[in-house]
Amino acid sequence: PVPLPPGTALLAWYDRHRRTLPFRRSDGGRPDPYRVWLSEVMLQQTTVAAVGPRFERFLARFPTIEALAAAPEAAVMEEWAGLGYYARARNLHACARAVAAMGSFPRTAEALRALPGIGAYTAAAVAAIAFDEPVVPADGNVERVVARLLAEETPLPAAKPRLSAAAQGFMADEAARARPGDFAQALFDLGATICTPKAPACALCPWRGECLAQQRGIQADLPRKVPK
Ligand code: ADE
Repeated sequence: PVPLPPGTALLAWYDRHRRTLPFRRSDGGRPDPYRVWLSEVMLQQTTVAAVGPRFERFLARFPTIEALAAAPEAAVMEEWAGLGYYARARNLHACARAVAAMGSFPRTAEALRALPGIGAYTAAAVAAIAFDEPVVPADGNVERVVARLLAEETPLPAAKPRLSAAAQGFMADEAARARPGDFAQALFDLGATICTPKAPACALCPWRGECLAQQRGIQADLPRKVPK
């Protein structure tokens, strides 16, 4: 049985400490699926700090998914220059064409998963943040939070399926289910600012009372990793 940490505590923390990020709306309106998708693809291999200016520049050139779909591939590749992993840019363009042909973004993780370049993580992130589907995207930050919460001793990458399943289990919490997009982003922020890889700030953590790693004093040692 996986312990269920209180979603209310994490969401209350997020409401107070939510980071202002270029790809996050700050006017309280619904997130635009195009922007959510674009930022999640950029964030896969690029840091939050580096994504900010490139996200704005990309949107200035391709303001809508229709504009991106209509652009020549060379223009998309050119705009992606410096971001690396150019297969992402090619997939981005193919995905934009598929979505433009469909008329709008699919609204579920399952349907999003069928699009070019959209894996399990991106599908869950877009479904949760843009459409409030009760799914939990598990990136490296979320895996670390969950590994510590459960004191999971299995090293990565073998532990990934278990950590991802435990993260999805958070949606059994009523407060989390009521705000899946905020819950996902709260987990990202917790991993980036409190539950950091080195010297986590446990005293400030909204889940400090339920964290098994913290109780055992092994939080800085988790997640364990198979040496490369
Ligand atoms: N890392 C990946 N997606 C993110 C998001 N939406 N907010 C903050 N960090 C992220």
